[in-house]
Order: sequence, then C-alpha cells, then structure tokens
Amino acid sequence: MSNETLQAVKGMNDILPDEAELWLWFEEVIRDWLASYGYRNIRMPLVEPTALFKRAIGEVTDIVEKEMYSFEDRLNGDQLTLRPEGTASCVRAVLQHNLLYNAPQRLYYSGQMYRHERPQKGRYRQFHQVGVEALGFDGPDVDAEQILMCARLWKKLGLTDVTLQLNTLGDSACRQRHRAKLITYFEQHSESLDAEATRRLHSNPLRILDSKNPAMQALIEAAPKLMDELNEEALSHFAALQAILRQHDVAFEINPRLVRGLDYYNRTVFEWVTTRLGAQGTICAGGRYDGLIEQIGGKPAPAMGFAMGVERLLVLLQEGGMALPRSKVDVYVVHQGELASQLASKVAEQLRDSGLRVLLHCGGGSFKSQMKKADSSGARVALVIGDDEARANEVSVKPMQGGEQVKVSVDELTVTINKFFKQE
Ligand code: HAM
Repeated sequence: MSNETLQAVKGMNDILPDEAELWLWFEEVIRDWLASYGYRNIRMPLVEPTALFKRAIGEVTDIVEKEMYSFEDRLNGDQLTLRPEGTASCVRAVLQHNLLYNAPQRLYYSGQMYRHERPQKGRYRQFHQVGVEALGFDGPDVDAEQILMCARLWKKLGLTDVTLQLNTLGDSACRQRHRAKLITYFEQHSESLDAEATRRLHSNPLRILDSKNPAMQALIEAAPKLMDELNEEALSHFAALQAILRQHDVAFEINPRLVRGLDYYNRTVFEWVTTRLGAQGTICAGGRYDGLIEQIGGKPAPAMGFAMGVERLLVLLQEGGMALPRSKVDVYVVHQGELASQLASKVAEQLRDSGLRVLLHCGGGSFKSQMKKADSSGARVALVIGDDEARANEVSVKPMQGGEQVKVSVDELTVTINKFFKQE
C-alpha cells in the first residue's frame, strides 16, 4: 500500500481554524438575520434519491446532465445523488412531513452542496449555500420580502458593489408560447447554431439564450422575447414587485436574458451580482417556483426562494479588507510540579464554571517557554502556579498587558479575575 500523503478531493476544500473563525462569525450573523424575518431552520440529508433532482431541476440542465455526484448504493441498488442544491430536498421534506397542511412556511437551510464543475476561484465541487424558501405564498409581497432581506444583509456585511438583476419568466402558458416561437426561430436559423444549441433545440431551447458563444450572440439578441408573451397576471405581479422595491429604494436592473440554470422557475427570478469575483460573480440567486411542489407530488402551492454561495460571499468580505475575527482565550494557566499541575487543572475548571475561556498548558516545559505560549495565545491573564503556591492554595495572577503580578487564594480567584476583566 502506498504511504504518500492523501489529498482532499479536487474542488473540495478544507476550512482551516483561522478561516473557520470567519465562518462561525458569518453563521451567527446569518442566524440573527434570518430570525429577524421569522424564517426557521430545516435540515435535510446530503443524499437524496437521484429521481428527485431529475424531476425538480430538469433532465436537460447542466446540473443533471453533467454535474451530479450520482451513484448506486451497492448494498440495495438504490440510485442516490449528493445534493447539488437544496430547494428540491426542502420541498421533498415539506411534503413528506405535511408541513404545508396548516400554514405556509418560511424556512432556511445551510450546508454543503455538490456539483462536478470545473474548479476555479469561486467555483468548487463541494461548496456551501444558505438557502431560503417561502412555501405557500403567492407574492409579490414575499418576493419583495426576500429581495429586501438580501439588501439588508449586504448592508450589514458592508458590501456595496453588488447589483440586483431582475426578470420575470411568466407563467407556464406564456413560457409554452415563447418556447414554440423560439424553436421555430432557431429552426429557421439552424445553420448558425453550434452543436450544444442544436442538441438543446427541442429539449430546452430557452437554455440556448444562455449561450456564451460569441458567434451566436447576434442570433440570440434577435430571438423572440418572452416579455412579448407575458400575460396580464404575470405582468402585474412583476410590476407590483418593482413598485415595492422602489418604495424601499432598492435599485435593480431588469435583465430579460436572466433565465437561470434550473428548470423549476416561473415569474420572478433574480441574481445579485458583483464584478469583483471575475467570472463567478453571482453571490446569490433565486426566484419563484410555483409549479415545483405539485411536480414533486404535492397539492399545488406557490413558492419563492433563493440561495447564496457562502464561499463567494466570504471571499468578497476578505477582499474588501475584512480582518479575520479571532476568538481569544481569557486565561492561560502556566504550571510546574506535580502539586501545581493538580491545582492548575482544578482552577481551570473552576474558572470555566464562571463562563471564562481558559487554556490549560499541556505538555510541560519551563515557566519561560510556557509564558511565551501564554503570550501568543492572546490571553489577557496568565495564572502562574508552582508547587509552593499549590501548597499554600494560592495562584499568581499576571496581567499580560503589563501590571503587577499578585498572589490570590484559590477561593477568591474567580471573583478577582472577573473583577479584573470588568475593570479592563
Ligand atoms: P444556483 O443559482 O444554482 O441556485 O446557486 C445559488 C448560488 O450558489 C450561486 O449564485 C452561487 O453563489 C452558489 N454556487 C452555485 N454553484 C457553485 C459552485 N460550484 N461553487 C461555489 N458556489 C456556487 C440554486 O441552487 C437554487 N436552489 C436557489 C433557489 C432557492 N431558488 C429557489 N430557492
């Protein structure tokens, strides 16, 4: 067997302790932000039946065609997939547990998602999303609520250069009409289509509009527009959403070419985009999916949601100059000698009882080398304990930022240390 060091799977990252501090801080901000809008947490498995994603996301999408980690469970033959996104799982869970029976639901989840894409900055094979779903609401008030939520979060995080792109995909009847017109149009220009577009012509012509091929841009520009097929209800839904956003001074740009890479959307779709992350500039995206619940086997119910890419957001924050938060310990306990070690461990527990963060030196060494560790730990106070102190049931308290070292009896230690921190 080879003994070379094994590496993480390509496109899947370790998050090391320094960076994890930032993640923990971010997760706290997110929890408070979601609670302030009344969204409640839901946790789904990372693995789902493959059929769920095929049905929800669409068979003729990049995700389902090329990017899913799908496999057969050798033990029972089940066809399974690591979740490439959370909406399908969330809707499955809501239906399975009948959560829409009494009331609509505002839900969120966060965690790993898996897509076998070509890794590059901001695009990974394992990445993290915070996903937000409102099920059972037909909008446009809830559409606006979710966009306002995002705007508030960017403000809280100090992100200024993100812009909102907005579009409506209309209802299924408008989409069918548009689809038929697109097929006719592209058939008339079949000689100008590339291989990918030709393949998608009948299965998913809308995705041709998403092509980045420069040779097809003029053709795409002149293609029939969905806007021209929209019915009255879809148009007034879109107008009402825009009106609420204007009332709240949320700037947006209408982008008729915004179609999204998943098939379940209708009406409102949106993306928050930055120019600071190169090609992977979408930090948050979503929209309305009024047909999905029925498509997965539930009673028809409208829904709206979005998800943000946590890696992309955190890169933006760090590039914007945000320092990594560092959680520090309060007290570092230095000790030498057998009696001293017993007392050190006892006082460390005693101080933790009162809520302090305490690092107990482990591994021995001279007082001098232990004090160096105390210094680099960032602790505000070191406790120094030798066998003499231990015999007298005392410890020396040394403020790390200078100041006098004092001896304190173990019984008074908690009170003294807490007083010291209050005065600081
Ligand atoms: P999505 O646009 O596929 O939508 O992904 C949402 C966000 O996840 C993207 O805007 C991006 O920030 C991040 N993301 C996607 N793929 C990667 C990747 N390979 N590496 C890093 N970040 C990535 C959805 O997933 C929908 N479920 C959103 C939604 C919820 N719609 C309705 N409800």
